[in-house]
Amino acid sequence: MIECGFDPRSVDTPCFVVDEERLARNLAILDQVKKQTGCKILLALKCFAMTACFPLLARVLDGVCASSPHEARLGREEFGKEVHTFAAAYSRQDILDLSGITDHLVFNSFGQFHRFRDLANETAAAQGRDLTFGIRINPEHSEGTVPIYDPCAPGSRLGVRPSEFPDPLSRDIRGLHWHNLCEQDADCLERTVKAVESKFSTCLPHLDYVNFGGGHHITRPGYDLDLLSRIILGFQDRWDVDVFLEPGEAVALDAGFLAATVLDVVPADMDIAIMDVSVPAHMPDVIEMPFRPDILGAGKPGEKAYTCRIGGPSCLAGDVAGEYSFDAPLTPGDRLVFTDMAIYSMVKTNTFNGIQLPAIARIPAGQKETGRVEIITRFGYEDFKQRLG
Ligand SMILES: Cc1ncc(COP(=O)(O)O)c(C=O)c1O
Repeated sequence: MIECGFDPRSVDTPCFVVDEERLARNLAILDQVKKQTGCKILLALKCFAMTACFPLLARVLDGVCASSPHEARLGREEFGKEVHTFAAAYSRQDILDLSGITDHLVFNSFGQFHRFRDLANETAAAQGRDLTFGIRINPEHSEGTVPIYDPCAPGSRLGVRPSEFPDPLSRDIRGLHWHNLCEQDADCLERTVKAVESKFSTCLPHLDYVNFGGGHHITRPGYDLDLLSRIILGFQDRWDVDVFLEPGEAVALDAGFLAATVLDVVPADMDIAIMDVSVPAHMPDVIEMPFRPDILGAGKPGEKAYTCRIGGPSCLAGDVAGEYSFDAPLTPGDRLVFTDMAIYSMVKTNTFNGIQLPAIARIPAGQKETGRVEIITRFGYEDFKQRLG
């Protein structure tokens, strides 16, 4: 069973607690992939962007991938290594901002590439910066089954399809990028690579790099690391390009917790414990994906003596994490610790209903034995007010 390595009663809730030792364990696996293959691995900031952990992550990772000028700036100023940027479309102001920050700018269409290439080159040159361009492709190869998480689903707005691809490709495009996986194993990547090679073979010999995107669940137990290495080595060998991966989840998988306090227990068809964590405000993926997050020490409904539903304080009827069982009835003041909460939670929080944003804390690397939790940031009324104008 997972243990959280800190006393939940020692932190004021709600609070995200990131365990740097768990991050370091993930990094060791990613480092092994890098050493076996020579590929480069970037942190997808959209998934996990806790600045306090960047010094640890930057020991192994080669940089960040950003989705906007703000993420790119965070990567440039705080991570201190390569910055790659992709967005489905850029404004003129985005191009002006990004050209001074990012090292690689990936376009989602040839229309935007032709419209902004000169502006980006001139802006970068005026600042003495090197900037290279890439293009996102849509290999029209789906591995996922949930359309909103499948960039290759029919009708997707992401990536240039094979039929739209110019031959020859502009020499100013130095990299190819795709992203079509979500929490998947290396066999899905293997099939995707085959699809890319069969549909984009004419341009592959002329590139410097190819970015295999994210969605590789590399640090999940049972992931086929050997197959991943063989795919990367084979691709580099066949096409003489550098290979990049840009995982988010794999970097911070199972590295964070969200601590909550039970505020009340109300009767319905079953007991419902209402906590100070809100599902739509603090872990919206639970509703969006959807999934049932795990709680330390809790079982499936009926597994332990006492079963109840766990919900949050907002007005949304669906502010519910799920049904769980515990050894004993929950009472106000009890602590609940949700697991795997570093990824796509901290980056997605909002202040719906004015609900208190969780503080952000970490167990610093090497201090697990002490159980010391270091509070990095607390939020308050001003953060709520300022966002509303
Ligand atoms: C373009 C791109 N790169 C990387 C990622 C990171 O994916 P993951 O966190 O699943 O590894 C995403 C996630 O949506 C993405 O859209």
